[in-house]
Amino acid sequence: MADKLADNISFARGPDWRNRFALAPLTNLQSNEDGTLGDDEYNFLVRRGEGGFGLVMTCAAHVSKQGQAFPGQLGTFADEQIDGLTRLAAGIKSTGAIASAQLQHAGQRAKPELSGTDVVAPWDIPKRGVRAMTTAEVEQMVQDFIDAAVRCEKAGFDGVELHGAHGYVLCAFMSKDRNNRTDQYGGSYENRTRVYHEIIEGIRKATGPQFQLGLRFSPEKYGYPFEEALRFATEMLQDQRLDYLDMSLWDSFKEPDEEEYHGKRLVDWFSALPRKNVRLGIAGKLFSAHDAKQCMDAGADFVFIGRGAILHPDFPKLATADANFVSDQFPVTCAHLNALAVGPAFVEYLATGWTNYVSDWQES
Ligand SMILES: Cc1cc2nc3c(=O)[nH]c(=O)nc-3n(C[C@H](O)[C@H](O)[C@H](O)COP(=O)(O)O)c2cc1C
Repeated sequence: MADKLADNISFARGPDWRNRFALAPLTNLQSNEDGTLGDDEYNFLVRRGEGGFGLVMTCAAHVSKQGQAFPGQLGTFADEQIDGLTRLAAGIKSTGAIASAQLQHAGQRAKPELSGTDVVAPWDIPKRGVRAMTTAEVEQMVQDFIDAAVRCEKAGFDGVELHGAHGYVLCAFMSKDRNNRTDQYGGSYENRTRVYHEIIEGIRKATGPQFQLGLRFSPEKYGYPFEEALRFATEMLQDQRLDYLDMSLWDSFKEPDEEEYHGKRLVDWFSALPRKNVRLGIAGKLFSAHDAKQCMDAGADFVFIGRGAILHPDFPKLATADANFVSDQFPVTCAHLNALAVGPAFVEYLATGWTNYVSDWQES
């Protein structure tokens, strides 16, 4: 038994989770064109709940049509989507898992052919036809996140996570290199982090006292120095409006890119930050019980499993039963994935959007 990983965990708000395993948000393209829930998305997520995850997180779900990045993306931007979200939250919760939706706006990475509107970001990118949001549009985007959280709460989700990572719009606002806006949302560190604060504050005010709120954040590569990532993570880990911080490290055991910070792994840097009742989750290359335990030993409170959970819906059960459990690796066959409640649209995305994940994929 990999100790601690099997223990339940409490948060400042909302229900305890039954263990320290969270399903990482996984874009899977299995919902409908209008953002309503698709059956394959439901089956994929509920199967992971049955597999023992303490928390089941949805894919990045767009909070406005303009923020859509993927075909078949689950939406949280319209009341017509609430029925499907209700079915999904109930299905996840019936397995004993806690249900959370990840809220996203893709910003410069949105796809106009899907959204039917122009592409907006914190700054202009004329070569790609991307234009800077007006101040009023930034304020509207903040409101869209808040409204989406309210819809998810109405649908019965225990909470939401803000997708503040991977270069999507919130993370783009953080960019020191690029975000030179002259309004209150650009330039200084305070201005570049303002959207996060306004959304967190707005969600807290608009949702009930037990709504569990998390934030996903990236440590590097998106135009802000590692020093600022540490500063922001420290602030968030002290921020009593949040219940957890999800550090998306991609490789938890690598050292930071910036030489000045060598000598400690990413997981060690973030686990060592002081925190006040805000839990810390770690994501990135956790493919075995041992990998997960290493994060716990470093001081994390829980772990997110992504690719290992695609390949093993029962990852938590397997990893808590056997300290030597090691995940299969990609590539695998289409039939293998189908047997793991991965539907055709997700198989196609894994085969064509990622490298060497599906061994027998054939373009039809
Ligand atoms: C197919 C796929 C889809 C993903 N979709 C999302 C997403 O919607 N939102 C997000 O924050 N991260 C997304 N990620 C990143 C994962 O949540 C996770 O952080 C990453 O895969 C590293 O964890 P792992 O090594 O356990 O897979 C995705 C990753 C993969 C492989």
